[in-house]
Amino acid sequence: MAIPPKALDFSLTSVAKIPQSGKDRVATLLDSGNLFRYSEGQGSDSAVAQLEREFADFFGKKYAIAVNSGGSALFIALKAAGATSGDIVMLNAFTLAPVPSAIEHSSCEAVLLDTTADLVIDIESLKYAIKTTGAKILLLSYMRGHIPNMDEIMQVVKDNDLTLIEDCAHVMGAKWKNQDMGTLGDVSCFSLQTFKQVNGGEGGIILCDDEDIAAKAILMSGSYMLYEQHLARPPSEVFDKWVATTPNFSLRLNEISAALVSSQLPILREKIAAWNSVYAQIASGIQEINGLSLPNISPHLQPAPTSIQFFCSRDEDEIITALATAKSLALNIKWFGDPQARGFTSNYHHWNYLPGQKMENTDEVMKGLLDIRLPSDLSEQQCKDIIAILRYSF
Ligand SMILES: Cc1ncc(COP(=O)(O)O)c(C=O)c1O
Repeated sequence: MAIPPKALDFSLTSVAKIPQSGKDRVATLLDSGNLFRYSEGQGSDSAVAQLEREFADFFGKKYAIAVNSGGSALFIALKAAGATSGDIVMLNAFTLAPVPSAIEHSSCEAVLLDTTADLVIDIESLKYAIKTTGAKILLLSYMRGHIPNMDEIMQVVKDNDLTLIEDCAHVMGAKWKNQDMGTLGDVSCFSLQTFKQVNGGEGGIILCDDEDIAAKAILMSGSYMLYEQHLARPPSEVFDKWVATTPNFSLRLNEISAALVSSQLPILREKIAAWNSVYAQIASGIQEINGLSLPNISPHLQPAPTSIQFFCSRDEDEIITALATAKSLALNIKWFGDPQARGFTSNYHHWNYLPGQKMENTDEVMKGLLDIRLPSDLSEQQCKDIIAILRYSF
């Protein structure tokens, strides 16, 4: 019996410190007491309005709308892009619960798309769903940073006149052929929740170039009649078209979260480089372990990984034992094949609010799919400690 490695003496849920500029801005906000983006006065010095402008500029888009979560961003994006009750929305079978939930929230019908061995949507499954359901909306999650061949996806989108909503919750700053994710579709949605590439505590952002979608999204987010205080918005005449018929869902972002995110945008690229280095170290260790393997990553992708996924070819009981061993050494591994939904992990079998659908390949892929969160500031030694525990447990 091998000697057990030492247990981890650090937490994989640790997050990077907030930059000093963010702390200073938050302190000023707290002193002012005004944590709400709108005011009856001028209002354009709002931290949320400024973040929207910065975010739109960062990605080279015209409009940005901040909201209170990534899930709210998806819901608003769907509604603002024109999805109405009963419309069919296609989505990855491999994604997280907020995605089908946003479709449910919009009273649309979710149609799942199967998953390839590289954890992306299967293009044939997409073509089949379009053909058999006539669906016109694709809500595409780049789940855990895995990005399909976007040339093929964009061709299908074009050929079938689909509306593409990109769920970029896990890919802020990642690129396909040098183009930022979130700039390919009609609308894109980001999450600002603590464990994402930027940490606002909670929050979401919608990006688009379409003035009607932008105006509707601003009104839906809860702007009342104060939408002119937005700094990344279409002209006022566009709002005139929509203001009377667009509901106010009151899903606004608060000033503190916006200030936190603004302070991190300038260091996003630097952080992504750190994440890639951590990913490379852990991935090379996993590759050496018998029974474990990694999904392929397209050479066209410049990833922004905040976690790592790998497959275990052993049976369910052996996986359960290995996870328990790793846990006893303080390494928490998530398992997407778990028959129980736990923590941040679930699979489509757990979403009983969707009409029953069976995804053969997804089931096969997820049964041995494991996941570890990667803090961006792990040292070389800490990466070695994680690999030693994986080697011992599997
Ligand atoms: C793939 C995916 N999309 C959307 C979301 C929604 O983000 P939020 O937690 O900010 O609502 C999440 C949450 O982690 C997610 O994993």
